[in-house]
Amino acid sequence: MSTLSIDKISMRFDLPNGSHVQALRDVSLTLNTGELLSVLGPSGCGKTTLLNIVAGFLAPTEGQITLNGTRVRGPAAERGMVFQQGALFEWMSVRDNVSFGPRMAGQREAQWKSTVDHLLDVVGLRDFKEKSVYELSGGMQQRVALARCLANDPDVILMDEPLGALDALTREKMQGLVLKLWKETGKTIILITHSVEEALLLGERLLVMAPRPGRIHREYRLPFAEMGVGQDLRAVKKHPDFATTREEILSMIWDMEEEIMGRNEEAGA
Ligand SMILES: Nc1ncnc2c1ncn2[C@@H]1O[C@H](COP(=O)(O)OP(=O)(O)OP(=O)(O)O)[C@@H](O)[C@H]1O
Ligand SMILES: [Mg+2]
Repeated sequence: MSTLSIDKISMRFDLPNGSHVQALRDVSLTLNTGELLSVLGPSGCGKTTLLNIVAGFLAPTEGQITLNGTRVRGPAAERGMVFQQGALFEWMSVRDNVSFGPRMAGQREAQWKSTVDHLLDVVGLRDFKEKSVYELSGGMQQRVALARCLANDPDVILMDEPLGALDALTREKMQGLVLKLWKETGKTIILITHSVEEALLLGERLLVMAPRPGRIHREYRLPFAEMGVGQDLRAVKKHPDFATTREEILSMIWDMEEEIMGRNEEAGA
């Protein structure tokens, strides 16, 4: 089975004023193919830094990432990223956005056209192929972003707050879509979110990170993502274990935030 291995990753940013930020310390984690991991944690605990290292945008100061046994040394199509918003080519059509990766990779027109048609069906945008991205709503744009990522057929999909900019109703629909794509494509997914509810709904594994230095605080294995595939997510949220786990994680993060604020006050005093 192929795996993504995050092995003793540390990341230190040296600042121009001579000080430094230890954004991550000694983070280790192994994900098997097809696992969906959600990542939660207070602001500044290193979630984006970790994702950028897995994507190959940043080189860690210590440790290494391997995917299927090969060390990650930079960005590659095998690791696709879906950003919160704004990473599409707004002036281009939906078709040109989704087909961008395959076209750049030199794929034949017949092949990329059928990929685009299939993926736009999957994300429910078949009738919007010729529209420019700027003409679409935020939720539709995120569906284009998902389709564009899938068009490169990555092994791993990395998502940094992909639904964070959407209204509540659209967000709920998109959560269902993420679960559907996860099951249908069998991709390995890492999804960062600030929403405890979203992390519970989507993460069959859920990581809670702690700040200063950024590290893994706790990991859960949860049944809700599996329950939610093809089901009404509101029914999943009514499960008694859902509320209990939500409360547990909320107070965990609340305590961390309190501690950070306490430390800031001490530093300021
Ligand atoms: N390029 C950089 N240079 C210096 N410091 C950085 C850089 N990128 C991140 N940091 C610092 O590293 C820490 C972790 O940042 P990161 O963006 O990974 O946090 P996060 O968990 O994604 O936060 P948020 O929830 O607000 O998105 C923060 O203290 C941040 O200021
Ligand atoms: Mg972030």
